[in-house]
Amino acid sequence: MNDVGIDGVEIWTGKLKLDLAETFAPAQGEEPGKYTKGLGLNASSLPDVYEDIVTMGANASKRLMERKGLTPEDIGRIDVATESSFDQSKPVSTYVAGCLEQTFDGDFHHANKGERKFACVSGTQSLDDAYNWIRAGRNQGRKALVIATDTALYARDDPGEATQGAGAVAMLIDEDPDLVTLGDEQGFGSADETDFLKPNQQFPSVDGKRSMQVYLARMREAMIDFARNGGDTHPDNFELAPFHTPFPGMVRKAAVLGYRHCIRDTEIEDELADEIGRQPRREAFDDDDAFFDAIKEYTDKLGETTSYEEWYARTVEPTFAISREVGNWYTGSVHLARAAGLVGALEDGREMAGKNMLVSSYGSGAQAEIHAETIQEGWAEEIEQLNIFEQIEKRNEITFEEYESIHDVHNHDETTEMEPLTSPDGEFVFDGWGRMGERKYTYVE
Ligand code: CAA
Repeated sequence: MNDVGIDGVEIWTGKLKLDLAETFAPAQGEEPGKYTKGLGLNASSLPDVYEDIVTMGANASKRLMERKGLTPEDIGRIDVATESSFDQSKPVSTYVAGCLEQTFDGDFHHANKGERKFACVSGTQSLDDAYNWIRAGRNQGRKALVIATDTALYARDDPGEATQGAGAVAMLIDEDPDLVTLGDEQGFGSADETDFLKPNQQFPSVDGKRSMQVYLARMREAMIDFARNGGDTHPDNFELAPFHTPFPGMVRKAAVLGYRHCIRDTEIEDELADEIGRQPRREAFDDDDAFFDAIKEYTDKLGETTSYEEWYARTVEPTFAISREVGNWYTGSVHLARAAGLVGALEDGREMAGKNMLVSSYGSGAQAEIHAETIQEGWAEEIEQLNIFEQIEKRNEITFEEYESIHDVHNHDETTEMEPLTSPDGEFVFDGWGRMGERKYTYVE
């Protein structure tokens, strides 16, 4: 069996831009620095009137299939990961297939379709499903299309509003992939949590501060599990460390904890001992409080060492380049982080073929998953094809009043009508409702 992994990727952003410092901050009566420095976000991508999870997913998939020279006959499986579904029964993948059949010869009647749910981690779970299907030899030579698509909107004035985003990542999973192979070892941290959920409602109920603690706790468990299952956690063995990035400030907190864990009992801990001491071990303390104080003090010092700063600048910081401009795309977020890191590596002329990435996914509710990926020879050619930064540049920047209206347009409880703010050009659009309440789509030349 050949190696299996991601052969190609395409990204489609919502076409509107809400600038957080210039537009959102003054309207909220907040300092711009809260968003740009604190959260680490400059802007959110939002969907225009005719965009939704189907159009964005189908548009990304169409480009991916065209670029890879594929027809529906080549695809044996379409899985959509989303937290923004509008139907409790009919999966979004059927709508996406319906769109693609409008523009490609042939059909997807032979393709197994589904929809995956576990908050943001379901994008990675869909990758797993495709990987397992191919490794099991059940694909009959066909490839899998995995689409992570979300309109990550919060209720107005929820603290999460600043982290909104909208877009889709389409990935082709195949044997002998051009971009990355997925490693066999995985680590999980999974628990019944009520930090962020949508109990039959469009906008999430969120306990924001708690969600951050749960993110860190589950990531820690996943890291321990990954090492226990034979995964390599030495920080020098990874060229990039893409994380689920609800906002870069979250990853900033997670990265130093991850680094602390990964250097324990390595030569890096020894080398840093003169400067900041050795990591506190629980057995050396009488009670938890004293241990936690000591570990916090060590972590703060670790975050200021050159060793950490260089590792962070090389492996983590480049992965924010897309999310910083588009916000949280939920299921797509960690896949944006991977793409951004590789775009940065290409620009910097880094030699990545054969090198590894440590990929850390997370979904509220809550589950973290960690696995390694190995970058393939074709990576540079694959990444060169991405036009996400041109799309980001071309977005239509909206006023706060336009933002209020567009939020209402996408609110299922409102009946607001407004003219689109952009013109569709060579893409799928939402164009109304069918007789059974289904959403309808057409391709605009
Ligand atoms: N200059 C610089 N920094 C500033 C600042 C200024 N003028 N003003 C505030 N800040 C800093 C704050 O100190 C804070 O940073 P630290 O946490 O490092 O102290 C940061 O900016 C944010 O400020 P607040 O904590 O006051 O922000 P908030 O309470 O209004 O909202 C939030 C933060 C709770 C995370 C909110 O955005 C939220 O609820 N988000 C949705 C939930 C979320 O994304 N959780 C992440 C983990 S769960 C997950 O990952 C799943 C998912 O995708 C949803």
